[in-house]
Amino acid sequence: MSNNIIWHHHPVDQSVRAKMKAQKPVVIWFTGLSASGKSTLAGALEQILTIQGYHTYLLDGDNVRHGLCGDLGFSDEDRQENIRRVGEVARLMADSGLIVMAAFISPFKADRRIVRNILPEGQFLEVFVDASLDICKSRDPKGLYKKAVQGEIKHFTGIDSPYEAPENPELTINTGKFNIHESVNMLLDFLHDHDVLKAGFEKVSETHKVI
Ligand code: ADX
Repeated sequence: MSNNIIWHHHPVDQSVRAKMKAQKPVVIWFTGLSASGKSTLAGALEQILTIQGYHTYLLDGDNVRHGLCGDLGFSDEDRQENIRRVGEVARLMADSGLIVMAAFISPFKADRRIVRNILPEGQFLEVFVDASLDICKSRDPKGLYKKAVQGEIKHFTGIDSPYEAPENPELTINTGKFNIHESVNMLLDFLHDHDVLKAGFEKVSETHKVI
């Protein structure tokens, strides 16, 4: 970045935008192996938050790679750039007052730490979607593990590219153990504990039609 670029402070800031939306902005960062359940959980959470009147946005790895990050592949450098870009976008969205869900494998601790550090204190909530490689392989919803094992896809996370699990995530959800309703309820309780959800928020039940 050039030395001649100086930050311009504008009168409308995050606190004004958050107040207008009557909510606490945060980035809920879902990390985990492919097929661990990141997108499913983030989507279900967004749905239930939206129904309860919260203003949200979901950034999803597979979708962002169709546009903003369409020029990137899966080398270590490209993944690093992927997370840098989406981290900056998540930061801007949180600055606009939104509750942001980000679902990215984000395999490297250092890259996730960078995103944590660009957000205001307490606004980065790391959720480790923990499912074993065996479970993810057996789910294989897109047939990608099969291709990776056969050598048709290179640098596949968990096969021939590493995944560094978080050491101190704000929350861990074992999706091999808990179903979607239980997992979403854990997230709702967690957000309440972090002052994101107001008292009286609704939980989901097995018969809930939306997920
Ligand atoms: S990240 O590593 O850079 O964070 P990201 O979350 O954006 O990855 O994208 C992961 C998605 O891309 C997976 O859900 C999967 O559908 C797809 N994909 C395609 N190739 C690979 C690969 N080599 N490794 C992992 N995921 C891949």
